[in-house]
Amino acid sequence: MSHSRLRRLPSWQALQQHAAVIGEKHLRELFADDPQRGEAFALEEVGLYLDYSKQRVDSDTLRLLRELAAACDLPGHTEAMFGGERINTTENRAVLHVALRAPAGEQILVDGHDVVADVHAVLDRMAAFADRVRSGSWLGHSGKRIRNVVSIGIGGSDLGPVMAYEALRDYSAREMTFRFVSNVDGTDFVEATRDLDAAETLFIVCSKTFTTLETLSNAQAARAWCLDALGDEKAIAKHFVAVSTNADEVAKFGIDTAHMFGFWDWVGGRYSMESAIGLSTMLAIGPERFREMLAGFHAMDEHFRHAPYERNLPVLMGLLAIWNNNFLDAASVAVLPYEQYLKRFPAYLQQLTMESNGKSVTLDGTAVDYATGPIYWGEPGTNGQHSFYQLIHQGTRIVPCDFIGFGQSLNPLPVRGGGDQHDLLMANLIAQGEALAFGKSAEQVRAEGTPEALVPHRTFSGNRPSSTILAERLTPHALGTLIALYEHSVFVQGVIWGIDSFDQWGVELGKQLAKTTIAELTATDEPTLAHDSSTNRLIRRYRQLRDG
Ligand code: F6P
Repeated sequence: MSHSRLRRLPSWQALQQHAAVIGEKHLRELFADDPQRGEAFALEEVGLYLDYSKQRVDSDTLRLLRELAAACDLPGHTEAMFGGERINTTENRAVLHVALRAPAGEQILVDGHDVVADVHAVLDRMAAFADRVRSGSWLGHSGKRIRNVVSIGIGGSDLGPVMAYEALRDYSAREMTFRFVSNVDGTDFVEATRDLDAAETLFIVCSKTFTTLETLSNAQAARAWCLDALGDEKAIAKHFVAVSTNADEVAKFGIDTAHMFGFWDWVGGRYSMESAIGLSTMLAIGPERFREMLAGFHAMDEHFRHAPYERNLPVLMGLLAIWNNNFLDAASVAVLPYEQYLKRFPAYLQQLTMESNGKSVTLDGTAVDYATGPIYWGEPGTNGQHSFYQLIHQGTRIVPCDFIGFGQSLNPLPVRGGGDQHDLLMANLIAQGEALAFGKSAEQVRAEGTPEALVPHRTFSGNRPSSTILAERLTPHALGTLIALYEHSVFVQGVIWGIDSFDQWGVELGKQLAKTTIAELTATDEPTLAHDSSTNRLIRRYRQLRDG
């Protein structure tokens, strides 16, 4: 059987041969061969410093990867995205999250219509609303000011808002409480609301489609909770707003569309946190800070679109991901922020990366004959060090790591005797990359007087790749650049693999089967089941356990 077009490309084949050469080289050797490597394989753009010298690459690798990008017409695909072409072909949609952060006055046309003007009209409405709530002039039904905001949504309508709220908490209105409800598990809603006063609580129901089971169930629960406490249908108007592309469904649910903030089908769920889906973020940090975040996104968009590939952060990150995934056979990427405020960043990236690039057919429907999206996962440092880093250092699998850190802490905490806890944190970040790359040889271990039986256990092979991203300080702007960096890196990978990074058909089957199963679980009489023997038995056993 002949290989796919991608695998037949000269640059792909050259990379395969080159991988055999690099495979023989240890990072120790690469560093020894080039004493300037730490400077040469690093760059700083739009406030982000990227050190990729601890990746298992040399300048030939990078040249070949750039050739691969050219052979896959990355520039053409990039322009198609920025130009509003319908590059999400399976849904026949444009992909224009970049328009969400384009400055007012810029023009991006979709079917002849300027969407940037629409974006700014919604941003202005959001800002006016956020100002009213934050200043206390938007009052609840009984005249109390809003002190609690509960955002209800799931997937792209939740992960971005939660991540951004946590990331930018230092800038948030501390007198207000923000909660997020996503899971259809009733515990999520009950725990999020149990200590809240309904008279002071605003619900934001976020759903692009406004048909999502989890979100609508939780929104119904919120409505009942609110009515129960406030005893008046009229209260809904003061305590519920919606964010959606689907005005009809919002109205059907009973939320006045005057209290709806819209977005558009050219915004993918996982690319929507800077649209009205970010209303909770704006309520937390205020419109000005929100706009700073948008400016950060936009700065990275411009950089991605215009910087030469040698100095293009998302292109480099995307190509390095291809290299590790397809040529060094690394199946996952660990994202390790050494910044507590980024604790939900790995979870956010899981949807961004895996819902985008977890595909096994190309745009024309042909099965791929190469690995696509790696598994993204992670935890904030230093917590991960005391948990799963063991495997990253000494396990049999190669796990490329992205370390993320900042020069300045938002919460400096002096250490007795001098220094700050932030230095301890960052020393750990820097040391981990060094340990992964260079390891510790058996000779070094022996030289420390280690008993021979323990030498193999205490040896570190090293040669484990990582990148380090540093920025000055976690600001709304820096967060925007960081997210856009990953978004465009995901895009680069999708273009090389020739897949549709903007659909998510893989989530449909489970949703569809759940509908049948819900009917079977809730049937009053024992249902007739026609699944496989395992599923039939699980349904029966669940019903027995539930009914006692
Ligand atoms: O199930 C996957 C998904 O469609 C995601 O892509 C999306 O972010 C999420 O569900 C929520 O969808 P909605 O915003 O329409 O409720």
